[in-house]
Amino acid sequence: MKGVVINMINTAPIGVFDSGVGGLTVVKEIMNQIPGESIIYFGDTARLPYGSKSRETVTRYTRQIVRFLISKDVKAIVVACNTASAFALETVKGEVDIPMIGVVKPGAKVAAETTKNGRIGVIGTEGTIQSGIYSEILSKTNPKVEVFGKACPLFVPLVEEGLIDDPVTREMARRYIGVLLDKQIDTLVLGCTHYPLIRNTIRQVVGDNINLVNPAYETAKSLAEVLERYGLNNDLRPKNNHRFYVSDGADKFKKFANTILPCEVMETKDINIEELG
Ligand code: DGL
Repeated sequence: MKGVVINMINTAPIGVFDSGVGGLTVVKEIMNQIPGESIIYFGDTARLPYGSKSRETVTRYTRQIVRFLISKDVKAIVVACNTASAFALETVKGEVDIPMIGVVKPGAKVAAETTKNGRIGVIGTEGTIQSGIYSEILSKTNPKVEVFGKACPLFVPLVEEGLIDDPVTREMARRYIGVLLDKQIDTLVLGCTHYPLIRNTIRQVVGDNINLVNPAYETAKSLAEVLERYGLNNDLRPKNNHRFYVSDGADKFKKFANTILPCEVMETKDINIEELG
């Protein structure tokens, strides 16, 4: 096991990855909160969804992507995917010598701290919900909470198809989230990085009285703290030199990314991630 041994320059980029476009919700927050940093993003669009895959498979994918990002000299890695954070983060972070953070802890922490009635709903992929990671971290942070999880497997394909504001997505949201509303939750964690992209649809279903937690915001905050702690922040404010890679469908990804991010995505490259071992 390696652990963190920092030997990086501050101008090095941050590596961020997800199975597809979901991680861009985290990239957007990083760009807003720490605009001095440049980003190398990888979306594993050829192998999506991760949510229905086993721990072993998601860990293997995570290792390959981490290796790819390290080959691009990143100074830190953000696992912008709840499923990979649940299944692979703890194992893989011990194998690398740069800081690596996920999205589950930051989001769970804020939900546990802000709930008023202690009844928290979590929506996520099958993998994330079955892993029990949210319940574990939420109850560690606040032993009084009751956690109700619900897997929403159709949300990711709907988002990847661009059905953001669509009657089909709305109907699925009603079916998935209805069971949580029956539990009188006051807080709902969007436990998949794709879900903030359908936040308006989710808001229509839950009404105004439920606090929606988007872990992307807290993750960017945690990243800023980690960079500060290791003296790795970049104050040089480089111009848009972010780079985007996917394992399939670069053009489609680029179009989508340009509807989400605050800066223009100039170029997205296809790479064969399997080739990297
Ligand atoms: N966006 C991812 C997550 O947060 C993965 C979704 C998927 O590929 O199933 O879990």
